[in-house]
Amino acid sequence: MIQDNPALIAVIRDRFAHVDSCPFQGPRIFFENAGGALTLKSAVETSAKYAAIPDNQGRDNPAAHALVATINAAKADLAVLMNASSGQFFAGESGTELLFRLIRTACVNVPKGSKVIGSSIEHPASRSAARRWADIAGLEYVNVPHDDATGMVTAEHYARHMTPDVRVATILHASPVTGMGMDVAAISKAIRAVAPDCLIIVDGIQHAAHGQMDLDAYNVDGYAISPYKMFSRHGYGIAWISDRLSLLPHDKLIDAPADGWEFGTRDTGAYATVSDVVAYFDWLGGEVSDETDPRARIEAAGRAIHAYETHLTDAMINGIGNLPGLRNMDHVTILAGADNPAREGLVSIVVQDMASPDVVTMLNDQGIRTHTRKADHYSGNVLDPLGLSDCIRISLCHYNTEQEIARLLTALNEIGK
Ligand SMILES: Cc1ncc(COP(=O)(O)O)c(C=O)c1O
Repeated sequence: MIQDNPALIAVIRDRFAHVDSCPFQGPRIFFENAGGALTLKSAVETSAKYAAIPDNQGRDNPAAHALVATINAAKADLAVLMNASSGQFFAGESGTELLFRLIRTACVNVPKGSKVIGSSIEHPASRSAARRWADIAGLEYVNVPHDDATGMVTAEHYARHMTPDVRVATILHASPVTGMGMDVAAISKAIRAVAPDCLIIVDGIQHAAHGQMDLDAYNVDGYAISPYKMFSRHGYGIAWISDRLSLLPHDKLIDAPADGWEFGTRDTGAYATVSDVVAYFDWLGGEVSDETDPRARIEAAGRAIHAYETHLTDAMINGIGNLPGLRNMDHVTILAGADNPAREGLVSIVVQDMASPDVVTMLNDQGIRTHTRKADHYSGNVLDPLGLSDCIRISLCHYNTEQEIARLLTALNEIGK
């Protein structure tokens, strides 16, 4: 258990850049992980190394061969991290861009008049792509309303709206506004029970850093992540697609291989940092278990991360020692329920009679970085039905500590006085 091992927490923290101070602000606690997680020091070093290499891939010279080997190794590492025994990984501009590309391809390849299903809990990346390409391709968009009280959508919710003519579906793995994780395997099963051949595309961007990805278990066709939210860096996204989706007609160069999805010259350094991330999960799995098989170590790391993050969010909600938790503060409301077992390292709150941006500024002034979510085109889908114009998002990762939570609780208690 990470929570019982302060020495391990110290070693974990030492692996990340800027863990307790910001180069622009000075000392700070980082609770803005849903906006972009901390970067592994190894990923920083790897990026610098590859940034200096002038060679392109696909030539017959030692540098090009090394670059291709690096990319292939990263794809093999991703297959272990995400448990994908088939399909392929490729890089794109961002998670959003990749979701658009996968959803667009799915929509234009299914029969006119069929349906696309998705949920109001989704981030606009997948919702916008599904609505836009449903319109263009002459498909009907079916919305599955999420449950406001729990901040999530379930397989039962999808099942109520499923019909055999649904040919494309989108699923959000974890919400960056409520913090709740969806049961992707159960939702996919509910979809396939009614429409077995449906092309199912998952937004895994918020979930990825919290461990436990298992593509073989999900039975889906696409899954996108943004590596800067999973301890790598900005500048690219990664998608996995099934063999079936790989081969559908899609944007590519004339006469290029039918299953090729990469656009232009790839950033080898970006791929190389993915291997650093996988090596990190592998290392952590070895610290928290006796497993020797790489996938088993990654699964152990995922379980440990989830357990520790739950420990931290429980501490934030229920209090630490004599320090009252969020649920004990009369001036604080927790979104999606204090005791929600679907929570993945994120708590969103509102403070009575205070605009959320003011709370975020006040916390920032004390060196505590959080973020405002406004009822705009990013978060209005979740906040509008709750009658909220904004909320304060406190998002953690497994390198955060109880001491940092205590500092946050102290600051939020003071506001109520
Ligand atoms: C669930 C989810 N989907 C999509 C995005 C967009 O990701 P990106 O900006 O990396 O494309 C985010 C970013 O916050 C997100 O949390």
